[in-house]
Parts: sequence; C-alpha cells; structure tokens
Amino acid sequence: MKVSPSILTCDFSKIGEEIHFVEETKADWLHLDIMDGVFVPNLTFGPPVIKRLRPLTDLFFDVHLMMQHPDWLVDAFIDAGANLINFHVESDANIEETIAKIKERDIKVGLTVKPNTPVDSVFPYLDSLDLVLVMTVEPGFGGQSFMEEQLEKVKALVEEREKRNLSFTIEVDGGVNRKTAEACANAGVDMAVVGNALFTNPDPIGLVLAIHEL
Ligand code: DX5
Ligand code: ZN
Repeated sequence: MKVSPSILTCDFSKIGEEIHFVEETKADWLHLDIMDGVFVPNLTFGPPVIKRLRPLTDLFFDVHLMMQHPDWLVDAFIDAGANLINFHVESDANIEETIAKIKERDIKVGLTVKPNTPVDSVFPYLDSLDLVLVMTVEPGFGGQSFMEEQLEKVKALVEEREKRNLSFTIEVDGGVNRKTAEACANAGVDMAVVGNALFTNPDPIGLVLAIHEL
C-alpha cells in the first residue's frame, strides 16, 4: 500500500524542512489539507503556501479541499502546483462542473466522502474520477481515532471498480497507523494518508517501509 503523508500535524514554523523529511521517508505523495473554517471547524492554508512549497520538491501534491465552495479556488490551487485535487461530495460545488474544470487543466481529480455519507453518493461520477477518498475520521483535525467501519466503503468501491472495469485509486484518510494500515490494505486501499502517526513516530522511515510491504 502507498503512503501520502499529511503535513497537518507538522511543525509549520519549519515547513520546508518537514517537506524534505517526508521525502526522506520515501513516501509516495504529499497530502495537503486545505480547510476553510466553514466546511470543517478548522482553518489551515491556501494557494500562496502551496505556491511556496512547489519548487522545494518533486513530490506529487495530493490536495484535499475541505471547503464549502472548492470550485471557487480550483484554478488557484492548480496554478500553485497541485497535481491532484480531491473535493467533498458534500460541498456546495456543482460536482460535474468541478470535475470537468479540474480535468480540462490535465490535473487528477478525486471525490471525497465523510463518514456519514453513503459511498454510493460518488458512484454516478466514478467514470470521470482518478481517485476516491474515503474519510476514516470526521474531517477537520489530525490525530483522531480510525473509524474501521468505513472500510466497508472501500470494499464496495473495489467491487464497483471491478464490475465497471475502472481504474481509480482508492485512498483513505484519518487515523492510519502501523496497526490500522493492515486493515486498510486487507480491505483493498491503494493509498493511505498518514499524518500524526508519521510525524510523531521515532522511526518514520520504518513506518513507511512497513506500510509499503502490506
Ligand atoms: C483530517 C485530514 C487528514 C488528517 C490525517 O481532516 O483530512 O488528512 O490530517 O491525519 P491523521 O493521520 O493524523 O489522522
Ligand atoms: Zn486530508
């Protein structure tokens, strides 16, 4: 299983060094949590920060928009250097239009579901998606406990993907650590976001290696 470290719990006073730390772990992507203080009760950073981080690394920027109106800033995030933009099916955005807007700029696109949202809410869009992100915590904060029952959604996505001969990536986000990663891999997760468990780990390289071997 692949790893997309979230820098939400990193030391923002030295974010450049934290990006190089992520590179040293040999992780696959970099997960950037964008929170608007409306869709979730927390506020992080926007395109200006991503624009500054872009020249520091070749890491693939997996941008997670926890925003009521993600469509308003899609172009700004792409201009800043996003490689993939995923936004919430629960947001106020017109989903088809926002997916089309991202794809017409040759950027990967994903749809994200919160824990209380049925997974078939994204089924109508699967043909157009590069990724589906299943939240395994209530979005808004790092360091929360993994919600194992959300893995039923992963299994349903694996089945639907096979049935329709599609190839979107299945990603989970929230509460993933060395232990919960096993259940994720067994359910069929392709990419796991890891935040707190990586930035508080005495052996981050070992953690990424262990998850890669699952
Ligand atoms: C939560 C974010 C997650 C979170 C993951 O709203 O979307 O990416 O930062 O962090 P951990 O791994 O600490 O749960
Ligand atoms: Zn996230």
